[in-house]
Amino acid sequence: MPTTTATATKIAVRDLVHRYYDVQSHATTLAIQGLDLNVQDGEFLSVLGPSGCGKSTLLYIIAGLIKPTSGQILVDGQVVSKPGPDRGMVFQEYALLPWKDVRENVGLGLKLRGLNQTQRTPIVDRFIEMVGLRGFEEKYPHELSGGMKQRAAVARTLASDPKVMLMDEPFAAVDAQTRITMQEELVRIWQETRKTILFVTHSVEEAAFLADRVAVLKARPSRVKEIVTITTPRTNRRQADKDPEFGAVQARLFDLVRAEVKESGDSATGSRH
Ligand SMILES: Nc1ncnc2c1ncn2[C@@H]1O[C@H](COP(=O)(O)OP(=O)(O)O)[C@@H](O)[C@H]1O
Ligand SMILES: [Mg+2]
Repeated sequence: MPTTTATATKIAVRDLVHRYYDVQSHATTLAIQGLDLNVQDGEFLSVLGPSGCGKSTLLYIIAGLIKPTSGQILVDGQVVSKPGPDRGMVFQEYALLPWKDVRENVGLGLKLRGLNQTQRTPIVDRFIEMVGLRGFEEKYPHELSGGMKQRAAVARTLASDPKVMLMDEPFAAVDAQTRITMQEELVRIWQETRKTILFVTHSVEEAAFLADRVAVLKARPSRVKEIVTITTPRTNRRQADKDPEFGAVQARLFDLVRAEVKESGDSATGSRH
């Protein structure tokens, strides 16, 4: 069992700024301006904010896929400059290879790290089981539902055993019932593996159900507007009306986000998202 170091900072985002530059039009978009955030080791933190505020940009920078204009990301005190095995990403679109079956897709990261099939199989099977895809090992992505594809993507990230899971609206494309099931499974897997999870969403209900803390972002250019701690046990979080304290937390989150959606709507000049 990993030891719990609940007070250690796992990810530190320091005075982050990101400006996109379009080489063709020379237009610039200031996506993030002065964003500070600390994520604790083993914490489940949701980042909540309106569409287009810079959530994906933040995650991509932490993953090392985009270089920030200025500011720093530290993971375990080390400055992030490129992608690494300590950080695993789950994208909104499943990102599975269509010509590979579930077992091969889940084992992809391990294969890239040089593990042979005998070494990969027990690890891959364990995570296929964990996400509830047993029996579907030989299916190809086109034979799976959206929810199953996303389970395979989650299993692939887990199989690589990153310390940090970066999840970018991973359940946005699955139907409402599957989404609820997958949220519950993710909580179970998180409790089992004690990974640090940074989960981006624009859904208040999703953030409130999943997280220990919710960082609400301001409209673009984003920075952290407020951090809301959720102490309600997860077993009581589905019925906000039955738990007044949780109901109040959700209402607070709705108010914070609504103000920012209004802000981004007021300042929008086109059809940006
Ligand atoms: N590659 C890019 N080039 C230019 N602008 C971009 C690029 N990617 C995102 N943006 C802009 O940056 C802002 C933040 O985008 P994003 O991080 O994707 O927001 P979110 O994930 O919160 O919806 C948006 O206005 C978006 O249009
Ligand atoms: Mg996004």
